[in-house]
Amino acid sequence: MSILELKNLTLVKDGKILLSNINIEIWAGYVHAIVGPNGAGKSTLANTIMGLHGYRNFVGDILFEGKSIKNLSIDERARLGITMVFQEPARFEGLAVDDFILAGVKEKKENLIDEALLKVGLDPLKYRKRAVDKTLSGGERKRIEIASIYAMKPKLVFLDEPDSGVDIDSVKFIFEIIKDFKKQGTTVILVTHSPEVLKQSDHAFLICAGKLICKGEVDKMFDYFTGKCAPCNHVGNPEIEDGKTI
Ligand SMILES: Nc1ncnc2c1ncn2[C@@H]1O[C@H](COP(=O)(O)OP(=O)(O)O)[C@@H](O)[C@H]1O
Ligand SMILES: [Mg+2]
Repeated sequence: MSILELKNLTLVKDGKILLSNINIEIWAGYVHAIVGPNGAGKSTLANTIMGLHGYRNFVGDILFEGKSIKNLSIDERARLGITMVFQEPARFEGLAVDDFILAGVKEKKENLIDEALLKVGLDPLKYRKRAVDKTLSGGERKRIEIASIYAMKPKLVFLDEPDSGVDIDSVKFIFEIIKDFKKQGTTVILVTHSPEVLKQSDHAFLICAGKLICKGEVDKMFDYFTGKCAPCNHVGNPEIEDGKTI
């Protein structure tokens, strides 16, 4: 069953086509990857689905659990269970970690905080009273950000470049919690240009120059992405058929 469907999604900004007639079905309960080179339009696609300011004026439709979310605000979409961990986290600067984690949680159970922190490999005793600010490393910050979304038990989460600005140890825990999201029934969409992140997914979509180039199994996509797509750098002129399954 599809949790999310993009139908002929096109986004034009300042006369430039950022997303071009994209059709995608995201199956519920799986880990998906949206891959493609830098500047392909991956974050733009995620921002459009989230309903961010500046990404509302698209053509086509976005269905979540079968219903159009086109006219819903970012908050209304969040309330439906659509969430995102941004590449550059910026929410609630200065809050204590435990308040930060509970901020978006409906049922505020005490043990949720410890559970979420342990999932990302952070000792609750050391971190719960720390402030979410610049005293945290990039990896700690990202892990806390992901833990806070995990505690919300959302239906869908986008992780935009989850390994960027993050140390190797943190990456290990981030890859682990991707599996935990899946176990708790959250559909995951990894937005990435990294083959290592792509390997964490069950199914992938390759985007280039705002177009869906192909979709399919990760192994095949991996060969395609590393062997053909990345070096060819075909910005603005994808040579192959759109949206084919490999
Ligand atoms: N808000 C915006 N206004 C104008 N252009 C944008 C905006 N957001 C992204 N773009 C452009 O869209 C293209 C795709 O960007 P992006 O989605 O960030 O790529 P990716 O995440 O795949 O690296 C880039 O050319 C970028 O400059
Ligand atoms: Mg991006």
